[in-house]
Amino acid sequence: MIKRIAILTSGGDAPGMNTAIRCCIRSGLYYGKEMYVIYEGFKGLVEGKIQQVTKDFTKDLISRGGTILKSARFMEFLDIEVQKAAIQVLRDNDIDALIGIGGDGTFKGLKALADLGFPVIGVPATIDNDVACSEFTIGFHTALNTICECIDRIKDTSNSHQRCSIVEVMGRHCGDLALFAGIAEGAEMTVTADKPATYDEIIARLKKLKAQRKDHAVVVVSENLYDVRDLAQKVQEATGFNTKYEILGRLQRGGAPCAADKILAARLSHEAVRQLCGDNFNLIVATQKGHTVSINMSEALNMERYKYPGTYKLIDILQ
Ligand code: F6P
Repeated sequence: MIKRIAILTSGGDAPGMNTAIRCCIRSGLYYGKEMYVIYEGFKGLVEGKIQQVTKDFTKDLISRGGTILKSARFMEFLDIEVQKAAIQVLRDNDIDALIGIGGDGTFKGLKALADLGFPVIGVPATIDNDVACSEFTIGFHTALNTICECIDRIKDTSNSHQRCSIVEVMGRHCGDLALFAGIAEGAEMTVTADKPATYDEIIARLKKLKAQRKDHAVVVVSENLYDVRDLAQKVQEATGFNTKYEILGRLQRGGAPCAADKILAARLSHEAVRQLCGDNFNLIVATQKGHTVSINMSEALNMERYKYPGTYKLIDILQ
């Protein structure tokens, strides 16, 4: 029977990770479990940075941005000997199961431990929304709100100066932040890996807008598609639009979680602990069609990400 549960956060931090930590701890204590936290992700695990916690630890965590447990990207964890060392640390501390809060990279680390026989559960938290098995991840909506607030501000000045603004948002392997921000902000153009556009296509669209006497425009693009500085220069040369680029960067990851992320964190965290209480593990908890579900980890990691064809169509319809 699982009696002692440890929690870690790993990968890029996301607003709502602290809410998830709080809700895992409180749910575990509610069900009579001993709760532990691990600092600095898988790196801290290997280094034995483990601490038992009580309800006091969760004070003022619910709305705090970032992760109080710190995060780390730790490539050494790909080495099976390092994974075995991590399991030894868990066993030495009498930990029965590990909850990992993070994205795909975190889940690959958890899966490695599961394959070596250690019980784990993954809770999806990343601003990118790139966990295929879950409709939404903890942090996505907060980051989206931040992006929309930034674009509102950019629009004020872009309108005043009759400019074109190219706004690059995060999402290394997933265009959801750009897609949803483009819809929410009524961007003149939205470009992601799922809806790519060449320089020529972007320029043609902006020329068309100019011809229609539009004197300002916002183009939202996912990161890693272009050198936006170069793109802005080419757009300006070809269209005559005074063009600026803005890279929103890590400010998208900070800040207090919005209500939707806090509620998602509460539901997913409780589900993770509830499953462990029933001695079910090697799962990823997720939200699907508004319901909280638990999916076998191997199956979850092989799922294809939903690509929102209807929402991409909306971009064209609403242009
Ligand atoms: O959290 C995901 C993410 O924000 C990606 O969109 C981005 O490419 C990456 O993390 C950046 O991470 P880091 O801060 O470690 O460079």
